[in-house]
Amino acid sequence: MRDPGRMPTRGPGPNADGVESVPVQRAGALEQLGGLLADGAPAWWRIVRRVVLGDAARDDTALTDRLVRLRSFGNWAFLVPRRVTAASRERFLRDLGECLDRAEPGSLAEALGRTPAKPGVDPAGQVPHWLFAFDAAGIAAARALALLATHPAQEQQVRNELAIPDLARPQVLPYTRASVMESVRLWPTTPFLLRESTRETRWGEGTLPEGTAFLLYTPYFHRDGSAPYADRFVPEIWLDGTAHTGPELVPFSAGPGVCPGEDLVLLVTSTLVAALMERHDIRLRGPGGPRSGRSLPYTLDHFALRFSAAARP
Ligand code: HEM
Repeated sequence: MRDPGRMPTRGPGPNADGVESVPVQRAGALEQLGGLLADGAPAWWRIVRRVVLGDAARDDTALTDRLVRLRSFGNWAFLVPRRVTAASRERFLRDLGECLDRAEPGSLAEALGRTPAKPGVDPAGQVPHWLFAFDAAGIAAARALALLATHPAQEQQVRNELAIPDLARPQVLPYTRASVMESVRLWPTTPFLLRESTRETRWGEGTLPEGTAFLLYTPYFHRDGSAPYADRFVPEIWLDGTAHTGPELVPFSAGPGVCPGEDLVLLVTSTLVAALMERHDIRLRGPGGPRSGRSLPYTLDHFALRFSAAARP
């Protein structure tokens, strides 16, 4: 592993070995970490392609670039001519199909291949969602790292946890995992949940009919000022039961619509954070960002986060 020591870390570097290898790990190319999500987040997307499609897709940037392009078309809806979107979509699905056919051992593609599907279900049709849903996981990981880089007591808890596991094998890292949960509680990546009532609902003085649409703005609950942890970084609430005493903390939603990717996201992001911290002291560079001992801001620009890393003795 190359060890760049304390170096200014910004933008993608020539060698991405390590950072992306969540299933294998090593925080190798720390220049990638400078802006984990900056400049198109090449290291992050390598991780995502490996987890979802397998190692052979590691450098298939064309595939995920095509997905990004399709998503940007989506933002313009009918203003983009259909022939443009159709051709792009067809190419993307064809290339994706080739990756899924390989069903590389250890990848989600392999798991998909051996999971029986009911008639009428298109399992492969889920994969574009999986790929783009990993956007949010990258954001959560970068923010968790920013929190740990600025909160020494919590950082020490992660280090205590790292003293034991061998990160070369998948591990549950409860405190690191709880740190990621905190990042999503403090800054939910899906701040709105939509529901439709299945029966008449009493609401205040009145009654709402069955079929009423409800919009839940989760930061309102996650940052409820009456909770002592509201604007602080307290991973402990996910470990001591506090977060589960009521229904209000729902970073991955809850009930039948709960995010099915929750465990996967927490495994990947906590392993990434742990791998990066294992042999390096990571600090937040520049102004802005979270600060220990202060109320945490209501928003945090993950694209603006910049880190430095120093090799640990
Ligand atoms: C930090 C990362 C993520 C967060 C915070 C997150 C959170 C959420 C939330 C809040 C919902 C909406 C649930 C609702 O409507 O009540 C959702 C839906 C969903 N998520 Fe995630 N998600 C993340 C990443 C992922 C990933 C990586 C995958 C797949 C690999 C995934 C798969 C899904 C699916 C399939 C749904 C739709 C579930 C349904 O409609 O039944 N998510 N997620």
